[in-house]
Amino acid sequence: MEAVVVDAGSKLLKAGFASPDQDPALIMPTKMKRVVEDGDGGDASMIEEVTVDPVVRGFIRDWDAMEDLLRHVLYTDLGWEVGDEGQILFAEPLFTPKAIREQLVQLMFETFNVSGFYASEQAVLSLYAVGRISGCTVDIGHGKIDIAPVCEGAVQHIASKRFQIGGIDLTNLLTQELRKSNPLMNIDISEVEKLKEQYARCAEDQVAFEETQRTWPKETHTLLDGQTITIGREGYIVGEALFQPSILGLEEYGIVEQLVRSISSVSSENLRQLLENTMLCGGTASMSGFEERFQKEANLCSSSIRPSLIKPPEYMPENLSKNSAWMGGAILAKVVFPQNQHVTKGDYDETGPAIVHKKCF
Ligand SMILES: Nc1ncnc2c1ncn2[C@@H]1O[C@H](COP(=O)(O)OP(=O)(O)OP(=O)(O)O)[C@@H](O)[C@H]1O
Ligand SMILES: [Mg+2]
Repeated sequence: MEAVVVDAGSKLLKAGFASPDQDPALIMPTKMKRVVEDGDGGDASMIEEVTVDPVVRGFIRDWDAMEDLLRHVLYTDLGWEVGDEGQILFAEPLFTPKAIREQLVQLMFETFNVSGFYASEQAVLSLYAVGRISGCTVDIGHGKIDIAPVCEGAVQHIASKRFQIGGIDLTNLLTQELRKSNPLMNIDISEVEKLKEQYARCAEDQVAFEETQRTWPKETHTLLDGQTITIGREGYIVGEALFQPSILGLEEYGIVEQLVRSISSVSSENLRQLLENTMLCGGTASMSGFEERFQKEANLCSSSIRPSLIKPPEYMPENLSKNSAWMGGAILAKVVFPQNQHVTKGDYDETGPAIVHKKCF
């Protein structure tokens, strides 16, 4: 049986048996609804639905919910059988605290009885997916932006940076902007998120962005309940926020400047190789016009070494940048498990959860 690879993101869990060059078999929301029965049960009016978010800003925060989610994914969706569980590899976000790594390996061996475990950092895995061991990833997901330079398969933590901004903040920004132009609009956050994915875009440059705010390009959109709203300039504001975080009320540099600044502490002999192998990944980076704007700003950047983007290999699926951490995990799983580099049940029983720091790096 192939190992299972899991990338549990703040919005989407990607999971499936390791099959490099393919999309993960399962891409599903991490958020779940838990039904809480109030009182003596049975009466529908007493049942309350509570939303639970196992992963917040990249890290597992609700372990009971995570256990429920993984149980569903592994046994129901992927067909593991109790008593015959397979091996599993997790794609870990940047700066995962040691305690979370340990709790995960403990959950896997003690509750799920897995036969082997491995964890590797998302930045390293995303580069494997494009056939690299060195480069710099800019992962713009739902709960965070991670900038991580990687040299020869090792994340340079000192030069890496995490920003607590992601797709969720852009969704909130879009809600706020749409309310200004459509004051009567009645809409829930999941519908705004879909509108964001459809209408958010990056202007060619700042001048073009300002033009969109003057000329008010407008499209009409019919919401699920039949209301009609207008949307246009709001979509550009959402895209611009990645290049001008002051739109979100943050005193940060735009994403290109951040990249150059973050990794300037890497030794100069590596700097060129890293910046010239920049990889954009994560769902938010697939926003229309983002890559073009990023490259345009990179070309204008004042530093002597300018970032340039990795071209994904043609044989990889179209969604590579959205699922690159999972795909790199599938590539790595094909190496670590057959070569016995993973944490085995014996290792775990002998050393306990701290084994994860010795074996997985
Ligand atoms: N075309 C698009 N335009 C803008 N945003 C998009 C687009 N497609 C997907 N997204 C956004 O990408 C985000 C999901 O990306 P991704 O799957 O990388 O996040 P995640 O891995 O769940 O979160 P994280 O890595 O931050 O924990 C969501 O906010 C989603 O709305
Ligand atoms: Mg992610």
